[in-house]
Amino acid sequence: MGESTITPLEGKAFGAAVTGVELRTLSTEQFERIRAAFLKYGLLVFPGQNLNEQESADFGRRWGELEFGGQALANQRKHKDGTFSDVFDIESQLMRTNVGNEIWHTDSTYKPLSSKCAMLSAVIVTEEGGQTEFADQRLAYAALDEATKERIATLAAYHSTNYSQANDIGDFPQSNGEGIYGSVYHGEAYLRPLVKVHSETGIPNLFVGRHAFSIPGLERAESRALLASLIDFVVSDERRVYTHEWTPGDTVFWDNRFVLHRARPYDYSKPRYMIGTRVAGDQATELAYYPEDPRAEAGRQALAAELEILRTEATDRRYGATTAAR
Ligand code: OGA
Ligand code: MN
Repeated sequence: MGESTITPLEGKAFGAAVTGVELRTLSTEQFERIRAAFLKYGLLVFPGQNLNEQESADFGRRWGELEFGGQALANQRKHKDGTFSDVFDIESQLMRTNVGNEIWHTDSTYKPLSSKCAMLSAVIVTEEGGQTEFADQRLAYAALDEATKERIATLAAYHSTNYSQANDIGDFPQSNGEGIYGSVYHGEAYLRPLVKVHSETGIPNLFVGRHAFSIPGLERAESRALLASLIDFVVSDERRVYTHEWTPGDTVFWDNRFVLHRARPYDYSKPRYMIGTRVAGDQATELAYYPEDPRAEAGRQALAAELEILRTEATDRRYGATTAAR
């Protein structure tokens, strides 16, 4: 295969579509070209790749250590014989987690090491809804007024998905650190600056999203208002937001260090099946600290205090401050 074609997304100030490549058989030369495009555009759309689980993980491994590879991000299970289960119950923890993905976030900021980049490959898509949207926090930071830049320069927020699930949808998953959600709903909260400098480009970006809460030094109301206003600002300009309408076979790849994303709602009785691969960040630049670190205690306490408030505040949200039993 010859030269790939890299076409900036129409009407957008970030993102590009890449055609004329096969991700499953990429030469080193082709990979380097894609890497340069990834750093420039932050979001790459590869139509017609039809990657399977193994191929998705293999491509991910070219970027670094995987958090997971070739995993179902779906509302049903795939059996060994290739057939699919019924769609999950909307009350199940799996669906609660899927619905949580419908709020703007970057991946794994609630873990000690946040994610470098991630990809989704579409297998089964819904006729209506179920798009994935992306937003550029690098352009957003550049567009902030100087007073806001100055105000946030030294601020940080805790990140936890126990927090975001509770705050966004009234879901309070058990956080005993066990089971498939042990590395997700673990009761820790990791402190991360609101402004992140990209380790490969040196360009600063906002680093906010649904998992962020409780800015040390600010009152709760002030912290909530600031975090919400920053996310609103990122998505307030349509040149910074891209909506991907899925076609089966598409692969989309993005930089979790500066690109926000969210799924869009769809009819949850219809199947939606994506294969996902997530690459871990670098220790030097994406590590907050580990739970053993003395700094972890403040996050744990901030989270516990916040969840206590949300227990009564989030009763009107989708799951009504309940705990999933399944
Ligand atoms: C993810 C995610 C959104 C989607 O895979 O991390 O947020 O559209 N997915 O499924
Ligand atoms: Mn995600």
